[in-house]
Amino acid sequence: MSEPEQTTALLHAASAAALTAYAPYSGFHVGAALRFADGTVVTGSNFENASYGLSICAETSAVIAANLLGRRTGLIEVAIIGGPLDEDGKLAPTAAPVTPCGRCRQVLNELAQLGGTDPLVYSGHADGHLVHRLSVLLPVAFGPGNLA
Ligand code: THU
Repeated sequence: MSEPEQTTALLHAASAAALTAYAPYSGFHVGAALRFADGTVVTGSNFENASYGLSICAETSAVIAANLLGRRTGLIEVAIIGGPLDEDGKLAPTAAPVTPCGRCRQVLNELAQLGGTDPLVYSGHADGHLVHRLSVLLPVAFGPGNLA
């Protein structure tokens, strides 16, 4: 698979994960897909709460899923996409890119730093995606090394 095809495939995995989101309060269904150096892809979706502020984002649920699978190193790419569902239950991605929230940047940083990587983050939207290094989204990050 060429590099652009791999990126598209990761965004597709994130779109598929968005269909598992539990988002009855916002109606904003988000999926995240993490790719590891060995090619493994782990996904997550947002899981909201009746106490709205306790909702869990897609990126954070993907990191927890990765940990459950024993994956703490080799995070190289992250894809995120979100939007409402259309009347056929298909994801209708927003025109604006879904960039990770501040809390999720910090959660992704923990996993990245454990394996010494600086993953590319693809923020999907209706017409494509933006790409940033995590270190650009979260400069001068506090991580495991800062506790030494
Ligand atoms: N959300 C995510 O899951 N990831 C993001 O990057 C942005 C926001 C979720 C949180 C909440 O369930 C809904 O989207 C609306 O903010």
